[in-house]
Amino acid sequence: MNVLLLGSGGREHALAWKMSASPLLTRLYASPGNPGIGRVAELVKLDVADHAAVAAFCLEKKIDLVVVGPEGPLVAGIADDLRVAGICVFGPSKAAARLEGSKGFTKDLCAKFNIPTAAYGRFGDLASAKAYVEKTGAPIVIKADGLAAGKGVTIAMTSDEANAALEACFEGAFGAAGAEVVVEEYLTGEEASFFCLCDGATALPFGTAQDHKRVGDGDTGPNTGGMGAYSPAPVMTPEMTERTMREIIEPTMRGMANIGAPFAGILFAGLMITESGPKLIEYNTRFGDPECQVLMMRLKDDLLVLLNAAVDGQLAHLSIRWSDETALTVVMAARGYPGTPEKGSVIRGLGEVEGEGVQVFHAGTAINGGALVANGGRVLNVTALGKTAGEAQAKAYAAIDHIDWPQGFFRHDIGWRAVEREKAGG
Ligand code: AMP
Ligand code: GLY
Repeated sequence: MNVLLLGSGGREHALAWKMSASPLLTRLYASPGNPGIGRVAELVKLDVADHAAVAAFCLEKKIDLVVVGPEGPLVAGIADDLRVAGICVFGPSKAAARLEGSKGFTKDLCAKFNIPTAAYGRFGDLASAKAYVEKTGAPIVIKADGLAAGKGVTIAMTSDEANAALEACFEGAFGAAGAEVVVEEYLTGEEASFFCLCDGATALPFGTAQDHKRVGDGDTGPNTGGMGAYSPAPVMTPEMTERTMREIIEPTMRGMANIGAPFAGILFAGLMITESGPKLIEYNTRFGDPECQVLMMRLKDDLLVLLNAAVDGQLAHLSIRWSDETALTVVMAARGYPGTPEKGSVIRGLGEVEGEGVQVFHAGTAINGGALVANGGRVLNVTALGKTAGEAQAKAYAAIDHIDWPQGFFRHDIGWRAVEREKAGG
């Protein structure tokens, strides 16, 4: 098979690494990719917003499958446009990607199909949103409806903060994404990421993970795209997984089919495990980054076989095998992140790092004058597999010790919750 992978982050490097191990693969192309992806794929420059140009490339190179990494092209309808041109795509249609592209759409779907989620209101103007805040009180959560690169959510502990967030939204802080807002109940509990591989009709559980969103140790400082992750998430016991499938995922699959937008691709449910059970915080319609990196480390099956089965509507016949070890990834970021990261500093020492159960996935890297340099906020994902979360954590941090990059930083406590649980004997 010839495959085209779209994207350039650590998520895409992990997907490329896993696909490159498949005996089904003939040629892997990636656009735009990064130097790590370049080790296993041919990097090509395509304008991903120009769907016709992507389709022309696929026809010319006889691409059998396009794998879309990030949400932007999916929400823009790239899967639909490529399918019209006769090209197979792993990823949801534009209509199905509304599960990520519009928070209000997802909340209304939850309401219609009785899916447990935070109580909410949808608003297109400041006055009615403020009135809702006034009525319900704080803490309360304000969300821009559309894609806002992970920045559109405010957890407001007071009504004043909520009102300020609403004003920012309606004044255009998130552009068109904030022209409508969702205001919702503040949920408490432990968060988990739950993934399903979907083919329009069947959803197969595809692993669990926990992410660390705050930039600093001890979960302090501003939010990021994720500073590290581990899989599995201990809070997702078999019982909790079964409830999540029955109460959240399966009604979503039926609901989407019911409204004429069957979901195929990766469904990534952000969950809050509350005292009364799992509740949906949000959906993403792609793999998480860096969650994908830990999932790929644990996946025992051939990823291309699974993606093909999802595209062909054959998931009902499959089961998926996972390593029972824990995978953990630590994000190394460039100084300045999540604000403006410093670019161009040289990274050395990667040659000695990888080995049995240790992989370094590239996120924001580039080659400059023959040297590997930082070229983004999140730069490297140092990923390890261990018999326990503690062992995976120790291996990942030992690997980081070999990396010579003074301008980079990372959290020192990735996996702390799972490691503490192990120490407590559960
Ligand atoms: P998002 O940008 O949508 O991933 O949301 C960022 C984070 O905000 C989530 O990972 C949660 O930690 C938090 N969050 C979102 N919605 C709620 C909610 N209703 N209650 C509590 N926390 C929330
Ligand atoms: N790590 C969170 C995300 O990919 O959305």
